[in-house]
Parts: sequence; structure tokens; C-alpha cells
Amino acid sequence: MSSIGPLEDDVTFAHIERAARRIAKHVHRTPVLESSSLTGLTHHTLVCFKCENLQKTGSFKIRGATNAVACEVERRAKETDSEEERRRPPLQFLTHSSGNHGQALAFAAKSHGYVAHVVVPDTAPGVKIRAMEHYGANVVFCRPTLADRMRTCDEVGQAHPGAVFVHPFDNPDVIAGQGTLGIEFMEQTNNELDAIIVPVGGGGLASGVAMAVKHLKPEIAVFAAEPEGADDTYRSFQQGARVLSHREGLPKSIADGLLTINSDRTFRMLKGTLHGVLRVSEDQIRHAMYLVYERCKLVIEPSAAVGVAAVLACPEALAPYKRVGIVICGGNVDISSISSLAKL
Ligand SMILES: Cc1ncc(COP(=O)(O)O)c(C=O)c1O
Repeated sequence: MSSIGPLEDDVTFAHIERAARRIAKHVHRTPVLESSSLTGLTHHTLVCFKCENLQKTGSFKIRGATNAVACEVERRAKETDSEEERRRPPLQFLTHSSGNHGQALAFAAKSHGYVAHVVVPDTAPGVKIRAMEHYGANVVFCRPTLADRMRTCDEVGQAHPGAVFVHPFDNPDVIAGQGTLGIEFMEQTNNELDAIIVPVGGGGLASGVAMAVKHLKPEIAVFAAEPEGADDTYRSFQQGARVLSHREGLPKSIADGLLTINSDRTFRMLKGTLHGVLRVSEDQIRHAMYLVYERCKLVIEPSAAVGVAAVLACPEALAPYKRVGIVICGGNVDISSISSLAKL
């Protein structure tokens, strides 16, 4: 497994702008939709969605994965044509992911002509595993513990010495790619949003988006949204220092994309840019999911419902803001499980 560093270590707005140019032809400029139902249920003058559920591979993750793959390809192209370089094994990619990042890396690697190996917990949703395989990934299963993920990744890395590890969120190229969503959201709303809500897991999405939108409009308020059963970001903010584990050791939520914990890098970035962290219960997530299906006719996954739940569940925190944007981060959900996930 290669440990070559990213092109740029600190994520800046310039880094995000370069990522936007790099990935433009590989990703969709997803639509922004106003939800009159949600607007009507709140005291805001506008509630709108950035629809990354309609993004290629069904989530925003394709942005970061494509930027990371393209950066690595650029980096290789710049390297000297030494004998050592010529003897290097062919470029491949490796990651661990319970779903969306794995699909995205598989797709990004394939569209640049490379292979991705994805280590997946054996509890990951079938829809995400099928999609990874469809995009040509070599899927390797592990048990759903961090220790087993890391051990399996090491083994796959040793078996494929050309593989470059692309972390799902603790990687500046990935964070910069996710931040491109923030630039688009501001352009598509004429810089008029007063607040943005972004679901948070490891924090790659929220830190990239917050960096982008705060640069374009410093007075905008950015809120992270997370399930009560995986509230590490909330507790880190309360304590002023990053917490390293979930309550009782294990995260508990149907929002399977939000079960990871911030890294030092993402927590540092979030500390400098977030206005607050909004927590929602499992019932509120299920209810938000029901509402979006019934009223907005959008296929969303539970992690995306977390942002919608927050706008309904946290009116006090959001009261000062007229125009609120919500990042609908993904739509990869097992169709057969929707009726058991979404509840009135
Ligand atoms: C749909 C969806 N939303 C949000 C997230 C959280 O992203 P991050 O880990 O960058 O906070 C993920 C991560 O897998 C996801 O799949």
C-alpha cells in the first residue's frame, strides 16, 4: 500500500476551486430544489435541498473520490521517469467503506482506467455492495469493527503493492472534492442562503462544504446534523476537544453513513467554521424520511433525512435564519427496506 501524501495538505478555498475544475466533467451539477412543504412546516421563508441523491453513484462521495483519483494520477505524471519509477507496480486504489465512498472510489478509479479494492463490513447494505461490484470494485469483506477493517486493509494492501489508500474523509483531496458542493450550492442560490445544514459522520463533507461557503459568504451559519445515537461531533463541541469513541462504544442509528468519528483534521476544520451541531432522534429521522418520500417524491437514504429532521426538530437554533439550505447527501437505500425505515 502506497503512502504518498496528498497534493496539498491544508484544505483552502483555492484547493476546493481547483478540485471543482478537476472533477467538473466527471460529476453532475445536481439540482437545488425548493421544498414548499418543508418551508410551510417551518418559520423560514425558504427551505431548499441540494440534491446529491441525484449525483452519480447516488451520493456526494463521487466528488471527493474523483478528486483524489485525479490528484494521484497528476502526481504520478509529474514524477521523474527514473528506473525505480518504471519498476513501480501499476496504480490501483484501496479504501474501507460501508458503502457510498466505496462505490464512489470504484466508479472514479474505473472512469480513469484503474481498479479499486474496497474493504466492506459484512453488515453493509446490499444495495451499496451490489453497486460497488457493478462499478468493478474488488470487494473484500471484514467484520464490522474498526480493528478488523484496518487489519483487512493492511492485508489487501500487502497483496496489491501498487494500491494507494484513499481515506473516506481524512484526506485533503477528498475534503476539497466534497467542498465543491458548497461552491455550487451558493452559486445556485445566488449567495442568498443564511444557513446551511450538513449531515456529519467523519466530517469530510461538512468541513469541505463549511470551508467553501464561509469563504463565499462569511456571515452564513453552517450547522452539522447528526443522530443522537452517533453524536461524537456534538460531544466534541461540548467538550472543546475531539471525543474518540461513541457512547457505550458503538454508534446506534439507521443513518449508516454517519456512524464514523471525526478525525483530528476534520474536527480542527469544523471547529473553525461550524456554528453548531444539531442532534436528532431515530424517530425524527424516520419521520423526515417519510415526509420527503411522501411530499417531495425524492428517494433519499436515512443519512440524508438527518438534515431534514434537524430543520424540523431544532426550530430554536435555526430561528434567526430566513433562507435555509439542506444538503441531501445521498439516495442509496435498499428499496425493500424503505417501508420499515420511513415512519409517519
Ligand atoms: C450519504 C452520506 N451522507 C453523509 C456522510 C458523511 O460524510 P462524512 O463522513 O464526510 O462526514 C456519508 C458518509 O459515508 C454518507 O454516505
